[in-house]
Amino acid sequence: MPTVLITGANRGIGLELARQYAADGWRVIATCRNPGAAADLQAVGGDIDVYPLDVDDPSTLDALVTSLKGQEIDVLFNNAGININKVPSIGDIDYDAWAQTMATNVFAPIRVAWAFKDNVLASPTKVMAFTSSLMGSIGRNGGGNAVYRSSKTALNMAAHCLSVELADKGAIVALLHPGHVRTDMGGASAPVTAEESAAGLRDVVAKLTPQDNGCFRNYDGTEFPW
Ligand SMILES: NC(=O)c1ccc[n+]([C@@H]2O[C@H](COP(=O)([O-])OP(=O)(O)OC[C@H]3O[C@@H](n4cnc5c(N)ncnc54)[C@H](OP(=O)(O)O)[C@@H]3O)[C@@H](O)[C@H]2O)c1
Repeated sequence: MPTVLITGANRGIGLELARQYAADGWRVIATCRNPGAAADLQAVGGDIDVYPLDVDDPSTLDALVTSLKGQEIDVLFNNAGININKVPSIGDIDYDAWAQTMATNVFAPIRVAWAFKDNVLASPTKVMAFTSSLMGSIGRNGGGNAVYRSSKTALNMAAHCLSVELADKGAIVALLHPGHVRTDMGGASAPVTAEESAAGLRDVVAKLTPQDNGCFRNYDGTEFPW
């Protein structure tokens, strides 16, 4: 069966992705900051291994790269992310929070993708999925929350650069919006459940072809404007 590596798999969308891929018989490499405190993830049955990975900490990434050296990864799901300093005005931005957001939402997933590119390119599938957001779309910008919005816009560009760079190696890089999802980040009144989101994301990933390299899509498969 194919292998998926998921970052931020201890709760929210990442946890549900881990559950669904494991239930489908995939080999799941589930990563999170603190496996010892990830009771829900540890309870997931199937072919699943839980590894420590703080995506902001390159030393934990180096350790995981060493552990997984030579192993194929069919789908790398860069899911971990933060949404802090949700202020309506540019004038209210906390620049330290913005720097942290860029580190976690942009630098980290790109660093993770590059670190595992040989594992992904060695697989038959070669998919690098990034959990982006509609909030990163300039074409659909409703304003406010510039910290989070700009991080996802930057993620889109950096991952698109990755898609161009790895195109001739057969990589399929996809920027995916999970919907407005009922998680700690999305809030209790969000319309989409984590189950629906993860099912949609998995379906979009399963249908990707090399022609889709560099796409920006919703969890139902529709295209978004950059
Ligand atoms: N929910 C939505 O409506 C929505 C909409 C659009 C996009 N997204 C994106 O979807 C992704 C998942 O969101 P979610 O709704 O599942 O959020 P969530 O419930 O807040 O979960 C976020 C996950 O990211 C992890 N994480 C944060 N910083 C990390 C770090 N430095 N290292 C490792 N893991 C880290 C968290 O781990 P800890 O438990 O250790 O903090 C947690 O597992 C994010 O990229 C988010 O931006 C969500």
